[in-house]
Amino acid sequence: MLLTDARVVLTGATGGLGEALARKLAKGGASLLLTARDPARLERLACSVNGPCSVLATDLTATDGVDRLAAAARHFGANVLVNNAGIGGFGLFEEQGWGEVERILTTNLAVPVRLTQALLPSLRTQPAAVVVNIGSAFGSIPFAGFAAYSAAKAGLRAFSQALRRELADTGVRVVHVAPRAIDTALNSLAVRQLNAELGNASDAPEEVAGVVLAAIEDGCAERVVGQPERLFAWLNGCAPALVDRGLRGKLATIKRHAGDRTIAAELIQS
Ligand SMILES: NC(=O)c1ccc[n+]([C@@H]2O[C@H](COP(=O)([O-])OP(=O)(O)OC[C@H]3O[C@@H](n4cnc5c(N)ncnc54)[C@H](OP(=O)(O)O)[C@@H]3O)[C@@H](O)[C@H]2O)c1
Repeated sequence: MLLTDARVVLTGATGGLGEALARKLAKGGASLLLTARDPARLERLACSVNGPCSVLATDLTATDGVDRLAAAARHFGANVLVNNAGIGGFGLFEEQGWGEVERILTTNLAVPVRLTQALLPSLRTQPAAVVVNIGSAFGSIPFAGFAAYSAAKAGLRAFSQALRRELADTGVRVVHVAPRAIDTALNSLAVRQLNAELGNASDAPEEVAGVVLAAIEDGCAERVVGQPERLFAWLNGCAPALVDRGLRGKLATIKRHAGDRTIAAELIQS
């Protein structure tokens, strides 16, 4: 799809990747409906984006959040939905309360699935439409210390593939982009220190936004950002025991940084 024809609903617009996407999409000539929870940050972003742009502040995990956005998106005449809103989820699974696990699963999986379902009828009326789901390398390389987050992102990947196959005879394309770490506020200090110690590379949000724009334009359905992540995603698919063994060697480091996260949370509470 040409960006000049795109009418894009972008969730998580005020975040690191969201803001980079909003700026690049606007620069490419797309019309935007930006959404996130914080109205002041949304307004600031809308004022600084160069092009037609409207905003809706809503919590997508609230009872009426998805319905409010879907109604606004229909009115806007959206033909592209970018499911980008997400939250991080670093911590040992046994130490995460159910409330935290549920928030991770809801925000990263249930919300994009619900929003896609709510928007599909109107997307199908467009001559061409695209749903872009922002996953994660952890959706293909499930990682110790990220059990609920990996589960949500693996679910989003499977949802994207199944829906793409189901809509193959329609004008709606389903794209899944799986970035590795990105330099954004989603990653706590503990995660940034873990990535540095493990040698996990991190990309600038602008680079990842460029990959997402290319996927909207050229229709490539699956993108895993970065090497060696592409190789490990493939390896995990055909020989997961090898990846089990590789990650076993990193477990002590992951547990140490997860412990730092717990201590930091306790300090904030006290
Ligand atoms: N950063 C990474 O290392 C990384 C790696 C791979 C994949 N990803 C994925 O990339 C996407 C963007 O992440 P990011 O790094 O840009 O994160 P970020 O900077 O923390 O931004 C997250 C965005 O989501 C919005 N959001 C969070 N909870 C929401 C809710 N309940 N309702 C509505 N909006 C909500 C936030 O805005 P408000 O707080 O105002 O609502 C913000 O705009 C996510 O799907 C993430 O999983 C990130």
